[in-house]
Amino acid sequence: MVKMYVTVAAVLSLGMLAQFFAPVSAEFTENYVMKNRRLLRDLLINHDPSIVPLAAAGEPLNMTLTLFLVDILEVDIDRNQVEFLFYVYKEFIDHTLVWDPSPERYGLDSVRMRREDIWNPDVHFSDDIGSVSHQPEQSEIVDVKHDGTIKLLDKRRVRTLCQVYALSDRHAAICEVKLAPSSHDRSLLWLNEPTETTANAMLYSSASKYQLIEIRARKDTLHFAQSSYEEMVFTITFGRITPPEENN
Ligand SMILES: *[C@@H]1O[C@H](CO)[C@@H](O)[C@H](O)[C@H]1NC(C)=O
Repeated sequence: MVKMYVTVAAVLSLGMLAQFFAPVSAEFTENYVMKNRRLLRDLLINHDPSIVPLAAAGEPLNMTLTLFLVDILEVDIDRNQVEFLFYVYKEFIDHTLVWDPSPERYGLDSVRMRREDIWNPDVHFSDDIGSVSHQPEQSEIVDVKHDGTIKLLDKRRVRTLCQVYALSDRHAAICEVKLAPSSHDRSLLWLNEPTETTANAMLYSSASKYQLIEIRARKDTLHFAQSSYEEMVFTITFGRITPPEENN
């Protein structure tokens, strides 16, 4: 678990861990608190987290969605259900949360804000039929950079319908998992084109019972009469790791 969080922190290059270990003087602490108070006060004046922070009129906001597969928790062959554990990582620029980081002005490169104070687009797994367990936790604090870059990480447990006939190290299952912004159509929100890290196996559990063969991402656009939406489609191919006694 510790390793996973360190890896996530490194991946997101938050660089926050270092701050906790550095010795601090009372003066530094006082200064730090004052600087943060001033910045937060100025950022939050007239800030409404329900309004999409568009850069310019007529230009939708671009968001990068990355899916980290952490584990395949359960495969129910009778019901054709597969349960996954993911980290969903969102990154975008909020043009209303930008400031001058120079020492003469605010003197801070980044600030931590409460999730409820920032615009945070909902994303949902369209085929999720509901996990048998409770939803895992998420951090209530968000790191915001002076250029408005916001990085959000959520842990999600997702159960989907997926046809699994038989599973062994020779028979693989292929499941599609769709992830889409829930409440913003293409006039407001676009998803960036997938790159090679969009479907990410970097955090896949080495203790998993299932062998991950491949995870891929593509972007689709859904057209409806009045609007269209973007969604990411992840294709996950996996098999069962055969216990040694069955290997003969
Ligand atoms: C969003 O991305 C598109 C390309 O996919 C680009 O043309 C557009 O300028 C970007 N918009 C913003 C606000 O960065």
